[in-house]
Amino acid sequence: MRTRLTEILDIEHPVMLAGMGGVSYAEVVTAVSEAGGFGCLGASAMGHDVMVAEIDKVRAATDKPFGVDLLTAAPGDMTRDVNAMADRGATVFVAGLGVPRDVIDLCHRRNMLVVNMCGKVRHAIAAVEAGCDIVVAQGTEAGGHTGTVATFALVPQIVDAVGERVPVVAAGGIYDGRHLAAALTLGADGVWVGTRFIATPEARSVIGYKEKILAMREDDTVVTRAYTGKTCRVLRNDYTNEFEASGEQAKPFPGQYIKSLQDGANHLGGDLDTPDVDPDREFMPAGQGGGAITELVPAGELVGCFVAEAEAALARLG
Ligand SMILES: Cc1cc2nc3c(=O)[nH]c(=O)nc-3n(C[C@H](O)[C@H](O)[C@H](O)COP(=O)(O)O)c2cc1C
Repeated sequence: MRTRLTEILDIEHPVMLAGMGGVSYAEVVTAVSEAGGFGCLGASAMGHDVMVAEIDKVRAATDKPFGVDLLTAAPGDMTRDVNAMADRGATVFVAGLGVPRDVIDLCHRRNMLVVNMCGKVRHAIAAVEAGCDIVVAQGTEAGGHTGTVATFALVPQIVDAVGERVPVVAAGGIYDGRHLAAALTLGADGVWVGTRFIATPEARSVIGYKEKILAMREDDTVVTRAYTGKTCRVLRNDYTNEFEASGEQAKPFPGQYIKSLQDGANHLGGDLDTPDVDPDREFMPAGQGGGAITELVPAGELVGCFVAEAEAALARLG
């Protein structure tokens, strides 16, 4: 299944692992890239040294292309991070919350492509004007920071706005090959998948997270500012319910993020050994597609399933 995305990224299948903070560490990134998809490290909660160590682990395990997602909200000079990525062979930098022009220029000088997450048409146009190479059209169904426009409405509008200039990747609520077929039909060049890849043996997680994803229904998420100060789709729980009921104003990012850390409700970047995680209060980003996820599936196998199911869906349509 070749598209402009597989060409530009030099991969076999148009399936990208979302750079999920706290989840997309070396093991799952390697599994996706090795299977012919595109693995992307979620470095937002890592800090420089952990990011470098995770990149080194990926590079040691595979010679396939991979990228790094940094959210860009972290204060400070990003030059050191971007240079470290390029030095170690990452081919793509993903900006979750906007990307400064000087960072784009630096990435291009270092032969890295720049991907920007977009929840509105005007964000996609601005990203392309600024020099981004690929746009992810992320609908509100998505887990994590998210906007208000649904994937089905957003993707073709972004395709029409910028699709002649750059590949567009669909995201938000995408969990199997029917979505890949639909995304291609809407004019996208591939899919960017988050929540489905949390439910893999390779994904990093705190205690109870994968179990909650397997048990969730499609309406068990809420968009809240409780954990980061920005609108973020997470599993609804006691902490989000208390926040919404209190009528409290969220502190602007990163103040609310720090508050949720202090409240003991945010261990993003932790693993199964992280102490004091209460799964009924913890920060667990998840998308609406999670209602369909009922078992852990190895990440590489998932990449193959996406492609096989998409081909079957397209064949059914003749
Ligand atoms: C646990 C989790 C963490 C995320 N962290 C980030 C992040 O650090 N940077 C980013 O660009 N997007 C992040 N996202 C959003 C994803 O990149 C992606 O757009 C989203 O998961 C797609 O929707 P889906 O979860 O329905 O597949 C995160 C999503 C989840 C579920």
